This record gives sequence, structure tokens and C-alpha cells, in this order.
Amino acid sequence: MADHEPHGGSGTGRHLLWGSAGHALVLAALIERRGGRVLALFDRCEMPSALPGVPIFIGEAGFERFMAGLDDPQDVSAAAAIGGARGRDRLALQALFRRHGLRVACLIHPQASVCATATLGAGCQVLAQANVAAGARLGDACIVNHQANVDHECVLGDGVHIAPGATLCGCVTVGDGAMVGAGSVVLPRLRLGADCVIGAGSVVTRDVPDGACVAGNPARPLRSS
Ligand SMILES: CC(C)(COP(=O)(O)OP(=O)(O)OC[C@H]1O[C@@H](n2cnc3c(N)ncnc32)[C@H](O)[C@@H]1OP(=O)(O)O)[C@@H](O)C(=O)NCCC(=O)NCCS
Repeated sequence: MADHEPHGGSGTGRHLLWGSAGHALVLAALIERRGGRVLALFDRCEMPSALPGVPIFIGEAGFERFMAGLDDPQDVSAAAAIGGARGRDRLALQALFRRHGLRVACLIHPQASVCATATLGAGCQVLAQANVAAGARLGDACIVNHQANVDHECVLGDGVHIAPGATLCGCVTVGDGAMVGAGSVVLPRLRLGADCVIGAGSVVTRDVPDGACVAGNPARPLRSS
């Protein structure tokens, strides 16, 4: 877990976003709300820019080409605009950004609530009306999506995604790369394993093993990877 930005979060200044799908639109809107500006988008696949007037560069070759012409990379923040269960990809991108001297800032929506006693790893994204409560600890590259709740003393590993409207009750532990689907509830003190997926709308009443996919109320295994 790396040092985090102050809870005010970054969003001001100049930004790069890797990913040109829906999550890029969400982050671009957040950055605009904070008075910042997106300089360029990047994506692994050939696709149009999600943002009018903002150029897109494809693949690592495109990224290298853009970086070769960029002055003062340490004054530019980069974020992985990739949602879903792709926390490991966000972590890999953050490593790429750091190798190029870019800043990996937290992006915190002005309408999100992050308690002063919570800690956020590098590149966390806390979106509108999300809540991160007292004593919660988030690893690097976590997303707490719109209206999601991470209650007191929860501990999230790296690359975790808490999808829109999901609630982790107090003292829940979540392993690296896990995703908690939209609108789910995880009861207090449970442990969700690394890379597990919780289906949308689930109520999780028991610990979930690494790599499992569970769904329903109460949540039951759908498959195991
Ligand atoms: C759980 C999930 C990952 C399963 O995806 P999948 O492996 O492609 O599963 P399928 O769609 O093939 O469905 C398999 C079975 O599980 C059931 N199922 C799928 N998702 C379910 C859910 N959330 N709750 C209850 N049952 C579910 C399906 O009805 C199907 O049942 P059947 O075999 O009786 O027909 C996915 O449905 C899901 O809920 N993803 C979370 C989405 C989300 O919140 N994204 C946030 C983006 S910001």
C-alpha cells in the first residue's frame, strides 16, 4: 500500500486517462468538477476517443509516443479508467505510469465522503455520493463507485472494486482484485477472498474463498476460477 493523496483528492491540474469507455466518461466528469483537464486518452484497442476534442493514443506504443512529447510528467496525473473486475489491470497500468514519472493520484468526487481517519492507497477512485467510513483502509487502485458504502474499519486490498450502491458493513476484509457487484450487501466482519466476484444484488452472509463467484440472497457459489 502506497502513500495516499490528501483526502481532498486530486482532480485539479492535467490528467491522462487509460481507457476510453464508460469509466473514462465518469472520471472525466469528476476531473472537470475539480477544475482539472484531460490531456489525452489511451486504450489497448483501436477505438474513438470518448471525449470530444481529446486525442486518443492506442497501445503502449501510442503511450510512449505521447510521453516522448510531454514536458514535466511529474506535474501530470494518470489514472486507469477501467472498471469491472479488472483491478489487476489497473495496478499494472499504475506501475506503467510510475515508470514514466507520472503522478498516480487519488480521484475523489467532491460529493463523496471520506472520513479523516480512513486511509487510501495510490490511485483510488471514490465517486459521487460514495462513503468511506472511519478507520477504513483501502489499498492501491481501488474503486468505491457511486453511492457505495465502505463502513468502519473495512480493509480492502489492492485493485478492489466496490460497484455502485454496494455496501460493505463494518470490519469486512476484501482481498486483492475482488469485485463486489452493484447493490450488494456484505454482512459485518466477513472475509472476501482475492479475485472473488460478488454478483449484483447479492446478500453475502458467509466468507467467500479466493477466486469464487457468488450471487443471490443469501449468496451461493456460481462458479470457482
Ligand atoms: C455474477 C456475475 C459475475 C455472473 O456472470 P456470468 O458468469 O456471466 O453468469 P451468467 O450471466 O452466465 O449467469 C449464470 C447463472 O447465474 C445467475 N446469475 C447471474 N448473475 C446473478 C446475480 N447477480 N444474482 C443472482 N443470480 C445471478 C444467472 O441467472 C444464471 O442462472 P441460470 O444458470 O439458472 O440461468 C454477473 O451476473 C454479475 O452480477 N456481475 C456484476 C455486475 C456489476 O455489478 N457490475 C458493476 C459495474 S460498475
